[in-house]
Amino acid sequence: MIRRAILLGTGSALPVRAVSNAELAQTVDTSDEWIVERTGIRNRYIAGDDETTASLATDAARAALDAAGIAAQDIDLIILATATPDQTFPASATKVQAALGINDCVAFDVAAVCSGFLYAITVADSMIRSGAAQRALVIGAETFSRILDWEDRTTCVLFGDGAGAVVLGAEESADGASPETVRGILASKLHADGRHNGLLYVDGGPSTTQTVGKLRMKGQEVFRHAVVNLAAVLNEVMAAAGLSSSDIDWLVPHQANARILDATARKLKLSPDRVVVTVDRHANTSAASVPLALDCAIRDGRIKPGDLIVLEAMGGGFTWGACVLRV
Ligand code: UT7
Repeated sequence: MIRRAILLGTGSALPVRAVSNAELAQTVDTSDEWIVERTGIRNRYIAGDDETTASLATDAARAALDAAGIAAQDIDLIILATATPDQTFPASATKVQAALGINDCVAFDVAAVCSGFLYAITVADSMIRSGAAQRALVIGAETFSRILDWEDRTTCVLFGDGAGAVVLGAEESADGASPETVRGILASKLHADGRHNGLLYVDGGPSTTQTVGKLRMKGQEVFRHAVVNLAAVLNEVMAAAGLSSSDIDWLVPHQANARILDATARKLKLSPDRVVVTVDRHANTSAASVPLALDCAIRDGRIKPGDLIVLEAMGGGFTWGACVLRV
């Protein structure tokens, strides 16, 4: 028998305040036309003073636990992917743990920026398959509005705040069972290339400036790498799962730019109506974007039990990765 991590439920949370392109254009030298044409973004959510990465993560986790029908006490692993933790330490995952009333479990944060959720779900999958965990909460949550330079129109219009979460459980399937029928995580692939640190980074930190810093990005160069790296890792992960892109029911990509989503779908020869798109509503929410998009597509009934879905993301580092899973 082979032990796999299966998806038991999803949840998400957004700040109360929605900010349209038109509202942003009142204070930033930009326009709705430019943002929509270059990125597909129409709206983003911005956290208020009483909303933080950990509070959004907790709300998303509660929704995922409800959807899974699992009590918080049954969770033995929490991995929170974030680049915007509430504090430098403790890990925001332990804040979520405390808020959920879980007295003892493994809880830690993963920092891989926009690919954080792919890194987190891959680690959770490994721990479940090895028997080190039985039921995991994997969360992506961010408050990027707090690290944006609101004077820099080339970056501040692109990002938003939010959180998404999944509950994973363990299930045994027969050795040699066909990837056409087995559910759960079938394969995942992760990459990093630190030579590109300088293309997308935050210009501060505890050990350097003792400040939080602001996000800096060379957008065009990130764009070029994203299209190439994402197509490569998607082909790699499908081959590892013993499947081809024609088997994909839904691609759930990191939501950075509608043009990157289109280019990736074209490279995979995947019809655009098989791609979950939420960048118009949420903008780029970094580590939150994949689980947030996944939860939206499950709740609106597009993704159904039995569907083969592929998650992917690429971000600062660079880091990138993909994961194939049958719901
Ligand atoms: O999540 C991590 C991964 N991140 C990404 O994948 C982001 C990847 N990059 C992108 O999505 C795109 O490169 C951007 C959306 C960031 C930029 O789009 P672009 O088509 O590459 O635009 P650009 O940087 O070449 O800028 C074109 C023009 C410039 O003006 P000039 O020099 O041609 O006169 C910019 O100054 O657009 C100008 N511009 C703006 N104009 C109005 C840049 N930002 C804005 C703005 N509003 N917000």
